[in-house]
Amino acid sequence: MLGLKLAGLVALVGGAVAQLRENEPWPFDVTTISAPDGSVTAKFVSFGATMVELWLKDSSGQSLDVIPSYDDPSQLLDDPAHPVFNAIVGRYANRIKNGTFSIPPTRDPPANGTNVYHIPTNDHDGQDTLHGGIYGWDRRNWTLVAKNETSVTYHHLDAADEGFPGNVSVYVTHTVANGQLRSQAHATATQKTPIMLTQHVYWNLDGFRTNTSNWNTSNVLDYTLHVESARYLETDSNGVPTGPILEVYDTPLDFRTPTKIGARWDQAVDVCGPGCQGYDNCWIYDQPLGEKPGVSLWSSWSGIKVDITSDTPATQVYTANYLSTPRKAVHGGPTLTYNPHSAVAIEQEGWIAAINNPEWGIDQIYEPGKDFSWSVTYRFSNVY
Ligand SMILES: *[C@@H]1O[C@H](CO)[C@@H](O)[C@H](O)[C@H]1NC(C)=O
Ligand SMILES: *[C@@H]1O[C@H](CO)[C@@H](O)[C@H](O)[C@H]1NC(C)=O
Ligand SMILES: *[C@@H]1O[C@H](CO)[C@@H](O)[C@H](O)[C@H]1NC(C)=O
Ligand SMILES: *[C@@H]1O[C@H](CO)[C@@H](O)[C@H](O)[C@H]1NC(C)=O
Ligand SMILES: *[C@@H]1O[C@H](CO)[C@@H](O)[C@H](O)[C@H]1NC(C)=O
Ligand SMILES: *[C@@H]1O[C@H](CO)[C@@H](O)[C@H](O)[C@H]1NC(C)=O
Ligand SMILES: *[C@@H]1O[C@H](CO)[C@@H](O)[C@H](O)[C@H]1NC(C)=O
Repeated sequence: MLGLKLAGLVALVGGAVAQLRENEPWPFDVTTISAPDGSVTAKFVSFGATMVELWLKDSSGQSLDVIPSYDDPSQLLDDPAHPVFNAIVGRYANRIKNGTFSIPPTRDPPANGTNVYHIPTNDHDGQDTLHGGIYGWDRRNWTLVAKNETSVTYHHLDAADEGFPGNVSVYVTHTVANGQLRSQAHATATQKTPIMLTQHVYWNLDGFRTNTSNWNTSNVLDYTLHVESARYLETDSNGVPTGPILEVYDTPLDFRTPTKIGARWDQAVDVCGPGCQGYDNCWIYDQPLGEKPGVSLWSSWSGIKVDITSDTPATQVYTANYLSTPRKAVHGGPTLTYNPHSAVAIEQEGWIAAINNPEWGIDQIYEPGKDFSWSVTYRFSNVY
């Protein structure tokens, strides 16, 4: 009887907390979707169509929230660190050299050229644009257009924002099913414009648990990573592609067989920039993925595994090399912080900077009658 009462009290307290969160005003209004079997529960806010919690079950059946975020989702707008926690990123993800491109694409277009566009530069002291500008899609007030128990759809009208040409109307739907989460996007443009979207989910498959003595849940170096790719894009010291497409053989970027992220950590210096240890690289998938996962990641401590399929030709893996943000309370915050390498972002996207590398022959220009679409499916399982 006492046990029952306690359980009721806990449920009530839990409910009250959830109520508070659900009552956040737009655009930080929280929508919760859950798989019918309870295996996946995800929470989203309208702002950036952003995921703020993702609850999965570990091998012992305990639920863990496996993504970093904020307890106060308005930090998504205000945090100067701007880690882009789990948002939809656009109109053009990743880096654009000097914030400059032309239509049709040319290499290093002159500032005074025709059909040359400039986007505010917000990365590396103004040397490039990262994730769509200062106010990219991750920092915009999207509108909730539909929701039910398992699905939520948001809309955003990007009206030539940040200097991109023309308007882009984009819908994003997040759906859960038993053991999976799927996010998909569809966008239409009013004139020729580059579009290259991603979803910037950071993973800590141990739910940042702190009460373990035999496993370091503070970093992802012991996670096993598998990437179906033999090629990656060469980048300069700012992470901007220079043109060459390199092979992973005999490099610390070879994850064609499942390998621990930290297995070649000593060699992973200068890989993400001068003096930077870790990964922030774009791998080109060997072939269109179809139903085959392009990336798999698992923790042999929690037992949680994610297999990622997508219609994108590439993936960026970023080991959160500069992360430094107070944690959510569920992860021991705000006393504890999300530190470098405590999570890994895995981003399904196009060839990065293809709009400045015309020799690759990758078409990322959309226009009326030529819509953009994108999707990713995360399948969850336990490895033991
Ligand atoms: C960078 O872009 C600015 C315009 O935003 C232009 O004035 C400048 O010449 C460009 N720099 C280079 C090196 O192309
Ligand atoms: C554009 O700028 C370049 C480099 O500054 C210069 O050489 C060229 O004459 C300019 N072209 C026009 C049409 O102004
Ligand atoms: C987006 O929402 C924030 C928070 O409510 C608000 O401060 C801002 O003005 C809104 N932006 C636009 C463009 O409506
Ligand atoms: C929820 O919405 C999604 C997307 O519109 C739809 O596919 C699904 O059938 C809906 N589910 C229920 C239970 O109504
Ligand atoms: C772009 O969006 C703005 C703001 O809603 C609107 O005024 C304008 O008419 C739109 N342009 C086109 C070509 O649809
Ligand atoms: C470890 O922490 C989790 C989550 O905070 C808790 O549910 C679990 O009971 C703890 N385990 C131990 C052994 O203290
Ligand atoms: C755990 O990982 C963090 C972050 O990489 C590191 O600072 C810390 O020293 C590690 N702790 C142990 C016990 O290895």
